[in-house]
Amino acid sequence: MSSKDAVERAKYEPLRSKPPEPVSDALETMPYGLYIVGSRSEDGQPNCMMADWLMQVSFEPRLLLCSLENDATTLKNIRATGVFSVNVLPADAGELAAKFAQPRDASKIKGRSAEASAVIYDKLQDVSHTPGAQTQCPLLDDALAWLECRAEQFIEAGDHTLVIGRVLDGAVLRDGEPLTQRMLGWSYGG
Ligand SMILES: Cc1cc2nc3c(=O)[nH]c(=O)nc-3n(C[C@H](O)[C@H](O)[C@H](O)COP(=O)(O)O)c2cc1C
Repeated sequence: MSSKDAVERAKYEPLRSKPPEPVSDALETMPYGLYIVGSRSEDGQPNCMMADWLMQVSFEPRLLLCSLENDATTLKNIRATGVFSVNVLPADAGELAAKFAQPRDASKIKGRSAEASAVIYDKLQDVSHTPGAQTQCPLLDDALAWLECRAEQFIEAGDHTLVIGRVLDGAVLRDGEPLTQRMLGWSYGG
């Protein structure tokens, strides 16, 4: 495991019930894409989060599945509004992607001081984006492609919730390779 992976593992340690072991290592070999899921609160505050547990699961209708931490602001927003967006980033957008790995609500990371836990991050503050026409969820100007979705099913899955969304619209903004979890060198899984 690279030192960068170790840093990311430490960041998400609260979610992991066990230290690294063979099963965890085997699960970590699984390759994933890397997506920025956009949402908004009922009063219109946009938010984005990094997610790699995301895939298309039906052609007709076109359905996407994403697995979201039960305490993510993103999941709360999608439950409240019934909509979300998915941004696929270009391969050279690692720095942009990194802005979305922290939770909006800092208290989500256990063990922080009361002061640190009280912070609400506006992750989109310095990121150019526009609200999608179908969902008003954030579409990143620098994305490779975007999709807008309406949530149709919420399925409990341990410490995550599976959200199945119908694709309402989508577009490719530029040519190029998509950024993947492997390219970023980060690990979420195990
Ligand atoms: C490489 C990587 C992949 C991630 N994939 C997921 C994922 O698929 N689902 C998830 O719920 N969180 C995932 N996370 C963690 C979220 O990005 C993180 O908890 C995020 O801050 C939640 O944002 P929110 O609380 O503002 O919605 C991942 C983190 C990293 C670093």
